[in-house]
Amino acid sequence: MDVTSSRALPGHRPGPRPSGDRPPRLPADRVPRHVAIIMDGNGRWATDRGLPRTDGHEAGARSGWEVVHGAIEAGVTHLSLYAFSTENWGRPQVEVRHIFSALARRVLAAARQRELEEMGVRVRWAGRRSRVPGYVADALGRLEDRTRNNTVLTLTVCVDYGGRSEITEAAAALAKDVYHGRVAAESIDEQCFARYLSVPELPDVDLLIRTAGELRVSNFFPWQATYAELVFLDTLWPDIDRRDLWRAVEIYAARTRTHGRLPGASA
Ligand code: FPP
Repeated sequence: MDVTSSRALPGHRPGPRPSGDRPPRLPADRVPRHVAIIMDGNGRWATDRGLPRTDGHEAGARSGWEVVHGAIEAGVTHLSLYAFSTENWGRPQVEVRHIFSALARRVLAAARQRELEEMGVRVRWAGRRSRVPGYVADALGRLEDRTRNNTVLTLTVCVDYGGRSEITEAAAALAKDVYHGRVAAESIDEQCFARYLSVPELPDVDLLIRTAGELRVSNFFPWQATYAELVFLDTLWPDIDRRDLWRAVEIYAARTRTHGRLPGASA
């Protein structure tokens, strides 16, 4: 049986854990292909320590790197991180500005971009392009371009992302194409509709993780995650490291997925 940890990955150089912890050894078909994470608890983590909430976002970026490394080591090929939602604009301006600056300094900085490149990570951006500060939009766009041929891990950074907004925009774009005769209304099916989503080639989410003990999906990937297995962790996001991801992967691997069929029936 194919064991993921023996898989040779071109360009794969995740930093080792000093403790020597290793990813779970699972058959390849038990490893989730697409893991999506709602990174929650940055504010509480900072408040618990008497720090400003912004420090929580700084620490949260570190956990982002941890799970990128952990995903590659575990053989996950798609990782999506919910960094800024369409609802997050309602936070104080100073916090909003800080989230974007943490993203720019800790994820999009030149050294970090090189690291992603070396690890074979392809970066994609899901979300609205028009409202995000120009310096973040430009850096994300350039990173998408620079990493477009990488195949080890597709990292989708969800920035100004909201599921309802994504679906509404897709419906509007599709309606326009029907109006102009580029698409026949009778030919519209799920596959056709999915081509209008923010990142059309994203596979369905297999495993959706939310941290910090909250039991909600908060407008995240309603189209892509309809059949996702949900794992809720109590740990606050800045305390998360790759071992927490691996634990969630093991929980996922032990689940029986039927997609509405009977257990044991083939797809
Ligand atoms: C949720 O915690 C976290 C966010 C809204 C921001 C997450 C963004 C980053 C960590 C920037 C780096 C991005 C990547 C891709 C690694 P919260 O503020 O809602 O926490 P609370 O519920 O405790 O208040």
